[in-house]
Amino acid sequence: METNRHQIPDKTIDYIDIEEQHGAHNYHPLPVVLTKGLGPFVWDVEGKRYYDFLSGYSAVNQGHCHPKIVEALTEQAKQLTLTSRAFHSDKMAEYTQYVTRYFGYDKVLPMNTGVEAVETALKLARKWGYVVKGVPDNQAKIITVDGNFHGRTINVISFSTDPNARAGFGPFMPGYLGIPYNDLNALRDALADENVVGFLVEPIQGEAGVYVPDDGYLAAAKLLCDEHRVLFIGDEIQTGLSRTGKLLACDHENVRPDILILGKALSGGVMPISAVLADDEIMLTIAPGEHGSTYGGNPLACAVAIAALEVLKNEKLADRAAELGNYFRSALNELGHPAICQVRGKGLLNAIVISHSIGNAADILCMELMKNGLLAKPTHGDKIRFAPPLIISKDELEESIDIIRKSLIVLGE
Ligand SMILES: Cc1ncc(COP(=O)(O)O)c(C=O)c1O
Repeated sequence: METNRHQIPDKTIDYIDIEEQHGAHNYHPLPVVLTKGLGPFVWDVEGKRYYDFLSGYSAVNQGHCHPKIVEALTEQAKQLTLTSRAFHSDKMAEYTQYVTRYFGYDKVLPMNTGVEAVETALKLARKWGYVVKGVPDNQAKIITVDGNFHGRTINVISFSTDPNARAGFGPFMPGYLGIPYNDLNALRDALADENVVGFLVEPIQGEAGVYVPDDGYLAAAKLLCDEHRVLFIGDEIQTGLSRTGKLLACDHENVRPDILILGKALSGGVMPISAVLADDEIMLTIAPGEHGSTYGGNPLACAVAIAALEVLKNEKLADRAAELGNYFRSALNELGHPAICQVRGKGLLNAIVISHSIGNAADILCMELMKNGLLAKPTHGDKIRFAPPLIISKDELEESIDIIRKSLIVLGE
């Protein structure tokens, strides 16, 4: 994003320069340096307050520094933070029971980052394919879809269709069959291969710019997978945990993934916590020594995840996301601004698609939003995701819509 240095305040530019000099250049952040967060707000080092409309890519569903989650973190931090899985911990017992009852699965496998949980799910699907389905050794295939985003490991970018994610990182992993998203015929054709063990899918494609598939796609895809004895692997890392107006985005179509992948808001943005949930037939195919992680399931993470999940339920954040999301999309449509060619999303996972004669109009709008006190980031050039913390109040949402209205003037009346 092009910015004139002289427009950036001194303190901010100092921090940016230090980070540029010493940090890898694998991101291109907005020129804002944040130092504090509370609820739907973050503050920069100059003391300016912003609405956070990215929410750590939907990790901060419960709002920044939620007091209940911070309390769970600090209390557990004084008690015990890491055992490794060489030993049991009381918190691990409590968490495994809590999270499996919460989502209705036999077992959980705890990890840390989202992509680790995706890797875990893929390993599980392959193992199940060999041990239970009877696929010949090393022949297992997993169906993935165009436009997917599941993380950044070499295995996971092996089935990415984003040239930026892949260029210069080959060779890639075999064993994936790519098909178009939202295309049941393509899925049906791909499922004809008897060595297919899993179908990996985001119920709404977040990174692709909040691409919502047709109603009925997920339910029909699940049925097709069942018919072919293929595991439906739901990546709910971004869409899950109340973000789209239901606990899981798959709940909109009453689909229960065979393997459910969670991350991000499982900690409310406090630390990296991810999880894979599945029933015994799948989960027990992995034996001791075959998979794990030093930090996965650490007592601190277990305490934080329980608190984060409690907040979602106690504060009815799914209902809130559903109601505020409807209001937000109608308000954006009512703006009727010619640069907004589409408003899309579910619950509080939304995006606008910008159409403008200026190529970098989405960048320009995000800079203007920042100037006016709202942080959002373009994705894939012309899309801007609007995903505030779910605890945002109606009044705060209205104020945010005013900021968006005012900022759009930069793209013409
Ligand atoms: C759907 C989905 N899967 C996986 C990931 C990867 O998660 P992480 O960045 O924690 O590895 C993301 C991150 O944005 C995501 O949105």
